[in-house]
Amino acid sequence: MTYQLPNLPFKPEDLSALSSPETFEFHHGKHHAGYVKKLNDAAEGTEYEELDLEEAIKKSHELNNTSIYNNAAQHWNHSFFWNCLTNPEDSNLNGEIKTRIEKDFGSFQQFQDQFTMAACSLFGSGWAWLIENADQKLEIIQAANADNPLINDQKALLTIDVWEHAYYIDYRNARPEFVKKFWNVVNWNQVNENLK
Ligand SMILES: [Fe+2]
Repeated sequence: MTYQLPNLPFKPEDLSALSSPETFEFHHGKHHAGYVKKLNDAAEGTEYEELDLEEAIKKSHELNNTSIYNNAAQHWNHSFFWNCLTNPEDSNLNGEIKTRIEKDFGSFQQFQDQFTMAACSLFGSGWAWLIENADQKLEIIQAANADNPLINDQKALLTIDVWEHAYYIDYRNARPEFVKKFWNVVNWNQVNENLK
């Protein structure tokens, strides 16, 4: 199959509480698009052309094929990240995810503090993820570079991209400011969908 860059599931101007349209233009139109192009180039004429994206991530990780793995995982991670964002009016913590966060972290505030800490303290490039682990408990993990919960058979629920390219245009080196603003635009309806 040929891997495709998805359209953003929102209008960049609706996400100004997080990032400028210029950031989305570069982050989606250059960085994410670049991973998709490099993935298609690396997969051409190989068995990876026959696999869907999640299979390609797992197989290339197992076989340590970094040119497939890094680009396939970054394609998946970015697609997942875009779906975690929405305009502030639609960002309402609700439903099953609210109950589960309060149960597993004690309170939303404690969850938010821990997730913020994970995102801000990750050394170098990577992602912070909220996942459901094998014991059906919610957990926060840090993942370096392109890593994601799929490679450990964990269910991904929410993520934030803390590669510098995610925030440098608007926030320069101030990653904590970007992470703080992220809480204004989390698509909790999507996180509930991810939990199903
Ligand atoms: Fe990114």
